[in-house]
Amino acid sequence: MSNMRTSSHFDDAAELDHGTKQGNATSRAALPPGPPKRLFFGNVFEFLADPLTSIDQLRDKYGDTSLSRFGPIRFVFTHNPDDIHHVLVRNHRNYVKSRSYEGLRLVMGNGLVTSEGDFWRRQRRLSQPAFHRQRLVGLGETMAECVETTMATWLARCDGKTIDIDFHQEMMRLTLSIVGRTLFGIDLGHESNTLGPAVSVVLQHANEFAESIVRVPLWVPTPGNLRFQRAKKLLDATVHKIISARRESNRDEGDLLSMLMGITDESGEERMTDAQLRDEVMTLFLAGHETIATTMSWTFLLLTQHPDVLAKVRAEANEVLGDRPVTFADLPRLEYLGWVVNESMRIYPPVWILERQALADDMVGGYRIPKGTIVAVSPWGLHHSPKLWRNPERFEPERFSPERSEGRSKYAFLPFGGGPRVCIGNSFALMEAKVIVASLVRRFSVEIATDPPPTPEPRVTLRPRDGMRAKLTPL
Ligand code: HEM
Repeated sequence: MSNMRTSSHFDDAAELDHGTKQGNATSRAALPPGPPKRLFFGNVFEFLADPLTSIDQLRDKYGDTSLSRFGPIRFVFTHNPDDIHHVLVRNHRNYVKSRSYEGLRLVMGNGLVTSEGDFWRRQRRLSQPAFHRQRLVGLGETMAECVETTMATWLARCDGKTIDIDFHQEMMRLTLSIVGRTLFGIDLGHESNTLGPAVSVVLQHANEFAESIVRVPLWVPTPGNLRFQRAKKLLDATVHKIISARRESNRDEGDLLSMLMGITDESGEERMTDAQLRDEVMTLFLAGHETIATTMSWTFLLLTQHPDVLAKVRAEANEVLGDRPVTFADLPRLEYLGWVVNESMRIYPPVWILERQALADDMVGGYRIPKGTIVAVSPWGLHHSPKLWRNPERFEPERFSPERSEGRSKYAFLPFGGGPRVCIGNSFALMEAKVIVASLVRRFSVEIATDPPPTPEPRVTLRPRDGMRAKLTPL
């Protein structure tokens, strides 16, 4: 752990006094340093105006552990891999997902991302087999088929020439169809034009809800609330359709949906209610596609900006695959592509912040973390830390070669989080990313054409602000 610093930029003498009387080491320690406290709203406006720059500045100015105030809430950032391990793994039982997940709860309900305690543990244990290696073997083929279908529609539009497409939207559509087919055995292709925007609306609302200090209840008919309700209704209807189609067919397809439906309690009698099923399906539906779509958009931007890397990716894909579609067995041989995807998620981590709230006092980085504090781990701040990465702004896939990865803490690179709440879909996601990139680069020249290049917008995921357009030319 980093050493304790003695100076605090806050006037927290009263709290220290109180702590000293308690007479233990935790309560005697100082709070982390951070920007001067402003009245009432604290540092919230500076932060929200530009979260990514704020995170970089806090890290560079105050070190690995810093404290900001968002109204009455203490917000501590930690950028030290060992301290992150402490929060996410060693002492994880002292932390719950914070208030900012309440936005997601509005739409995901009490699914895997938002639930806590024994309920979450049970659901996680029961869902895990659906993401095991053996299951992924079969899914690779379905993913490749979805990519083929998308490419066929592009080819039909191209007619041998270059076309201009909304690349980010196309990736959202493609990843939505992959989630639909692989996890729920349903083809959502025709509905993607209405579902895609609905997903954007609910996630945006979830984000605004999480950020707002004063929250307008959902029943108040503000334009934002009404938009949210309409979009949520559409998604609910889709999820309902997915569940009832499977109930009617009563077939065990061996996919996630069948597994969730087959779950019973210890006595073997109680099944998941429709409401719980709805929450889990909605959670996977939302968690499982925008993240990958975002990764794809940033990866193709970086490949456009680094033609030498693109050439290597294409050469590897041609050598390993020739003309045939990607299968699960090919994945280990697409090694360089794996480094490229990792490097893309290092520079643009789709989930840019993870937040936990301390249930009891703790120590992080040698500083006191009073009960109730939100401890934030930012993959963005971590992946751009000059202490952990040489020339962090430079795109260099070779960082992830075995030689250069040696000795690096596992907690310096956290696109999928860590500890018991690590992303359940991480292998699924890496496989999907490889299938998509390896398929596209062999058939198309994809050139991101948004000019100036898109900048990241930190919403629920780190999206390209104003989308990303691309020029596609069949090869
Ligand atoms: C590039 C793609 C992805 C990225 C970067 C990503 C990232 C993450 C991160 C950082 C977390 C942890 C959040 C936290 O600790 O607060 C998480 C959790 C989760 N992810 Fe992913 N994810 C991706 C793809 C997927 C996919 C494809 C699925 C499902 C099909 C999925 C389902 C989930 C679920 C259910 C959780 C909650 C796990 C739990 O708390 O038990 N994710 N993801």
